[in-house]
Amino acid sequence: MSRFKDDFIWGAATSAYQIEGATNVDGRTDSIWDTFCRGKGNIRDYSSGEVACNHYENWQHDIGLMEQLGLQAYRFSISWSRIMPNGCGEVNQAGIDFYDRLIDGLLEKKIKPYITLFHWDLPQSLEDRGGWQNADIARWFGEYAGVLSERFSDRVENWFTLNEPQCFIGLGYHVGSKAPGLQLDVKESLQALHHSLLAHGHSVRALRSNAKNPIKVGPVQTGTVAYPFENNPAYKEAAYRATFNVHGSNEDNHGYYQWKVPVNPLWNFAWYADPIFLGHYPEQGLEVLGNKAPKFTDQEMEIISEPVDYCGLNLYSGFPVVADAECGWYAKERPLGNPLTAFKWSMTPEIMYWAPKFFYERYKKPIYITENGMSAHDWLSDSDKVSDPQRIEFLKSYLKYYRRASDENLPIKGYFLWSLMDNFEWEQGYEERFGIIYVDFESQKRCFKDSAYWYQSCIKTKGKNLF
Ligand code: NOJ
Repeated sequence: MSRFKDDFIWGAATSAYQIEGATNVDGRTDSIWDTFCRGKGNIRDYSSGEVACNHYENWQHDIGLMEQLGLQAYRFSISWSRIMPNGCGEVNQAGIDFYDRLIDGLLEKKIKPYITLFHWDLPQSLEDRGGWQNADIARWFGEYAGVLSERFSDRVENWFTLNEPQCFIGLGYHVGSKAPGLQLDVKESLQALHHSLLAHGHSVRALRSNAKNPIKVGPVQTGTVAYPFENNPAYKEAAYRATFNVHGSNEDNHGYYQWKVPVNPLWNFAWYADPIFLGHYPEQGLEVLGNKAPKFTDQEMEIISEPVDYCGLNLYSGFPVVADAECGWYAKERPLGNPLTAFKWSMTPEIMYWAPKFFYERYKKPIYITENGMSAHDWLSDSDKVSDPQRIEFLKSYLKYYRRASDENLPIKGYFLWSLMDNFEWEQGYEERFGIIYVDFESQKRCFKDSAYWYQSCIKTKGKNLF
C-alpha cells in the first residue's frame, strides 16, 4: 500500500499577530496590523489581535496541546516589532526571551520549530518610512534576519522567509483589503514587490552568515492553482500555463473568477517564484507588463536568487481548467452548489497533487505544504465538544491527493495544517475559525475539535487512517 515516507513531517501552523496578543507589553511596538485594526470598518467584527489567543501568556499550555496532538513540527512566525521596536537598530531582549522560551519548550517536547521570519506584521515605524516601497527595507529585513539567526539558529534548523508576498503586497498595497490598506497602482505595487524579493534574498544571506549550526531556508508562496479538469496532456499543459502565466489586467482573466480578487500580476506564482528559483522575472510576464514592470539590476537578481533549500506552498483552493484553442485555457464552471468552506472557498483537493507536481517540474526543489485547512462556523456543544465533520472530510481528501504526490516520488517533505487553533483571521476578525483546536476568545479556554482527534490519529498512523 502506498504511504507517506517515514521522514515526512506532520505539523501545524500559526502566525504571531494572529495568536499572540500582548501587543503592547515588554517593549513590543505597533505593527501595521495594530494600526489597520484601529481604522474604522477595516475589520469585519471590529476586532483586533490585541488579545487574540493570548498565546504570549498561554504558550506553555499550547505546547502541551501540541504534544497531545502528537505534532512533530510547529510553524510559527516572529513578531518583528517585538524583536526590534524600531524595525532596525536596537534589539529588545524581552522579545528574544519570549521566543527563547517557546523554542526551548517545543524542543523539550520533541517538536521541531519551523520559524517564519515575516507573516505580515510589519513594524509601523518602518511603514512610516515607506515600508515595502522603500528600497532600504531589503537591508532592514536582512538586519532583522541576522539577529534571529544569531540568537536562535543554535536550536532552529528550518526557516521560512516571507509568508505570501501575494497577500501582503497584492492585498495590502494594491487592493487595500489588508494592512496597511494602500491602493497603489500596478507599477508602484510591482516595485514594492521587487523590494520584498530583494528583502528575501538579503535575509537568506544574513540567516546563513550568522548561523551557529547548518540551517535550511526557503520562501512561502500562495496563489490560485489551476488543475486539469481531466488528466490528459492537453489539459495538463493548459493548467500549467494557467498556474504560471502572468495576467496583465483584470480584463485578461479568462474566467478566473473564484477568488473575487482582481486578477492582476500581483496574484500569481511565477512572478514571485521565478526570480527566487530561476534568477529572472518570467519572460511572458515582462512582455505582458511592458512599462509597468519594476526597475531592477542584474546584481539585484543575483541577491534575490541566492540558493534556497525548499519551497513552502500555502494551498487552499484552486480551479479546474480545460484547453482552449483560442486562449490556451479557460476555467471550467463549477457545478451549482459545489462544496464550499465557510469562507466560500471551493473545495478542490486536486491541487494537493498538481501544485507540488507543477512546482517541482518548474523549480526542482523539495516542497513543504506550509498551510492547508478550512474555516468553518464551529461552536461548542453543551457537552463541551466541537463536531466538525466537514473539516475532517476536507483534510482527508486533500491529504489523499498529497499522498499521490508522495507515491510518484515527488520530494514532498511535510505538511503544516492551518491552523493549530482558531485565531484572528485578519480583516475577517474572529468570524472565520480555521483551528482544529477551538478557542473561546472570552475565557481563553481551548478544546480539541473532532478534527483534532482525527489529525492526532492521522499523525500516529502516518496517514494510514486516510483510507
Ligand atoms: C494564509 C495566511 O498565511 C494565514 O495567515 C491565513 O490565516 C490563512 N491563509 C487563511 O486565510
